[in-house]
Amino acid sequence: MNESVGISGCRVCGSDVRTFIDFGRQPVSNAFVDPADTAGEVFYDLAMGLCSACSMVQQLHEVPRGVMFHSGYPYRSSESRFVREHFERTAVGLVEGELGRRDPFVVEIGCNDGVMLETLRRRGVRHLGVDPSAGAAEVARRRGIDVRVAFFDEASAAAIRDEEGPADLIFSANTISHLAYFDSVLKGVDALLAPDGAFVFEDRYLGDIVERTAFDQIYDEHYYLLTARSVRAAAVRFGFELVDVERLPVHGGSLRYTLARPGSRAVRPSVGELLAREEAQGLGDIATLRRFADDTERICTDLVALLRELRAQGCTVAGYGATSKSATVLNYCGIGPESVAYICDSTRVKQHLVTPGSHIPVRPPEVFAAPYPQYAVLFAWNHAEEIMAKERRFSEQGGRWILYVPDVHVV
Ligand code: SAH
Ligand code: TMP
Ligand code: ZN
Repeated sequence: MNESVGISGCRVCGSDVRTFIDFGRQPVSNAFVDPADTAGEVFYDLAMGLCSACSMVQQLHEVPRGVMFHSGYPYRSSESRFVREHFERTAVGLVEGELGRRDPFVVEIGCNDGVMLETLRRRGVRHLGVDPSAGAAEVARRRGIDVRVAFFDEASAAAIRDEEGPADLIFSANTISHLAYFDSVLKGVDALLAPDGAFVFEDRYLGDIVERTAFDQIYDEHYYLLTARSVRAAAVRFGFELVDVERLPVHGGSLRYTLARPGSRAVRPSVGELLAREEAQGLGDIATLRRFADDTERICTDLVALLRELRAQGCTVAGYGATSKSATVLNYCGIGPESVAYICDSTRVKQHLVTPGSHIPVRPPEVFAAPYPQYAVLFAWNHAEEIMAKERRFSEQGGRWILYVPDVHVV
């Protein structure tokens, strides 16, 4: 482990950042590659630390944004029925709650294939999705959604404000934690948001990640692992107030934050309650995070041992869900096609490519049953319920799922 202290200043407040986990060299997590052309793969250092002042958990090295998010970015939110339903409920909740006024305008940061805006479009709400990944944005556009292919930041936000007027609501899901330039994002929100508007965003929650030792949530795109405490501190720094938080069951545990201009709304009791819970959980303590790193080591050792054992026994092992999360597991544990022969995934643009760094072939889900492997590592463990129901036959005919969160177990 890299024990260096303060090797780079906190991206939010400039103070010392203390390292607690170091995965070494890692590929770009969503850079699935053509098996005939793996020579050009790029690797970055992946390590995380805790800011000693504002408690923001963040990476120590930054991958340039254009390397991760571009026209070929393969992630499609709408692959999961559970995710689609979550965002439909979210959109309906926003329409009924935040958007009561006449002709509201909503901007979404990181709209991807339009999974959330689709519902607003159907309800006739004026909207604009912002996403730099042109391939995903094109899917949204084909659904009739207004999209701008751009990185949201201070400059693009000011341009939107000039052209479209102020936003009553700025929404974002699973994107704000990806943006190292948090200062520019919040300045952009400040420029674009109407005086009484709200900035609502949700992201994977450090409290759940630590509780479940979900170490695979650490990869290049997840630059920050947010908490109520760190978001509140950042909000204050850039002229906002954290007025509400809500825990969500998606992606293995997420948190929805509502920011507003100071004094414009009452602060809900949920904020104080969660801050107290985070204090009790020790989320701002380096000792807690170092324990999390030790637990991670143990899981990786156990997983490698199990796969080695199955290989020695001549068992067939596949994977399910070529997630970005799996990049960290596969590359850190040194797992390749000799241990996991292939990974099934429903995302068309990932199929017939190989996983970044670990070079495991990605296959369409139809391959799973033809014939079934004896074991399948569920890399998309956050979609366990949905996938296990869909692939019920696998278990019925004797197949076993391997999970590694919160520990290595076979079901
Ligand atoms: N909101 C969707 C997609 C999350 S994936 C969901 O929750 O499922 C993250 C998305 O953020 C990707 O589509 C990526 O292209 C986009 N993104 C990355 N940087 C961005 C930026 N600066 N501004 C807007 N979108 C960005
Ligand atoms: P995520 O964990 O980042 O949401 O990625 C989930 C991956 O799993 C994504 O590549 C799509 C894939 N997937 C399937 O192949 N089948 C499914 O039923 C679901 C829900 C996801
Ligand atoms: Zn800080």
